[in-house]
Amino acid sequence: MVRVGIYGVTGYAGYEAFRLLRRHPAVEVVFAASESGAGSSLAHLFPTLDDFPVVAFAEAPLDRVDAVFLALPHGVSAAVAREALAAGVRVVDLSADFRLKDPERYAQWYHEAHPAPDLLAEAVYGLTEWNRPAVRQARLVANPGCYPTAVLLALLPLARAGAIGPGPLIVDAKSGVSGAGRKPSLTTHFVEVDENLSPYHIGRSHRHLPEIEQMLHAVNGGLGPLIFTPQLLPVARGILATIYVPLAPGWTEGMVRDLLVETYGREPFVRVLPPGVLATLRHSVGTNRCVLSVTGVPEAGMVILTASIDNLIKGAAGQAVQNLNVMFGLEETAGLM
Ligand SMILES: NC(=O)c1ccc[n+]([C@@H]2O[C@H](COP(=O)([O-])OP(=O)(O)OC[C@H]3O[C@@H](n4cnc5c(N)ncnc54)[C@H](OP(=O)(O)O)[C@@H]3O)[C@@H](O)[C@H]2O)c1
Repeated sequence: MVRVGIYGVTGYAGYEAFRLLRRHPAVEVVFAASESGAGSSLAHLFPTLDDFPVVAFAEAPLDRVDAVFLALPHGVSAAVAREALAAGVRVVDLSADFRLKDPERYAQWYHEAHPAPDLLAEAVYGLTEWNRPAVRQARLVANPGCYPTAVLLALLPLARAGAIGPGPLIVDAKSGVSGAGRKPSLTTHFVEVDENLSPYHIGRSHRHLPEIEQMLHAVNGGLGPLIFTPQLLPVARGILATIYVPLAPGWTEGMVRDLLVETYGREPFVRVLPPGVLATLRHSVGTNRCVLSVTGVPEAGMVILTASIDNLIKGAAGQAVQNLNVMFGLEETAGLM
């Protein structure tokens, strides 16, 4: 059994990680930590979960685990990651602390100096389908953001194959409100969200933009700028990203679909839909799947890709479990089907 501890178990991602890991056939959850919930039990905090004690960070027995999940805010994760690594424990960090390779970019987007720049070089970006060999060896995995998971799984095959022509890449993405975390705010207040649809940080101002571009540019330095419109959808969970892609000369809808099928045909968690079927939230919510569809617009020399994920599963805790499985040589689908 792989022994795992979870930090931030009172948050949405931590809750989902606990739920998945407790039923994982090859994982023992050794501790669940939260500062505000310390001394309580998970069944008390979340009646849907098992009775399990919640400990303060200082009481978390790092000497009894092989790995930890950090479901903590950026800026908080890095110090816990350092402590865990020093204790010989492997880390899957769900925050943004280790996703951007350049500490200057982190400072620019997160408005604070990087909390652990010395650890950045060894951090592996855990988009599992694209970094499996490095994840296998990693001590520190930076689990991708939710929007980047959906957008990158759709776009990376096209970027690598040279299928994308000149011009901007336009991403119109909608997320359920759990994407903003459990701490309430005015913008996530029921009355603001219900029967509404609100864009936020549109254009080139959302923090996931540099994360998406970092990965895209690693496979293709010649792409046009990304234009990204995130929107708050009045549902609890799920992301639907609609991506407008100018095609390189000679590329067609059928070729793009064939490329996606060839790339992901043997992947357990990526589905490419047949012609005429569009990805919807229902195809992925409650699962670790990313569902992709392709629609051609030959008059404009474009395709529209649609990507659907559950932000808390493939976009957070599920992908973290997938990475854990790879890191410890377990069946990649264990605990996720
Ligand atoms: N929600 C998503 O869809 C999603 C997707 C991908 C990645 N992520 C990332 O995953 C991480 C967790 O997200 P979330 O949505 O689960 O957030 P959340 O619901 O707000 O939960 C945050 C957790 O962090 C703890 N925490 C907050 N401030 C802390 C501090 N100063 N010191 C120690 N613990 C602190 C909270 O514990 P207390 O109860 O003790 O305050 C809570 O357990 C974030 O970095 C987020 O960006 C989230």
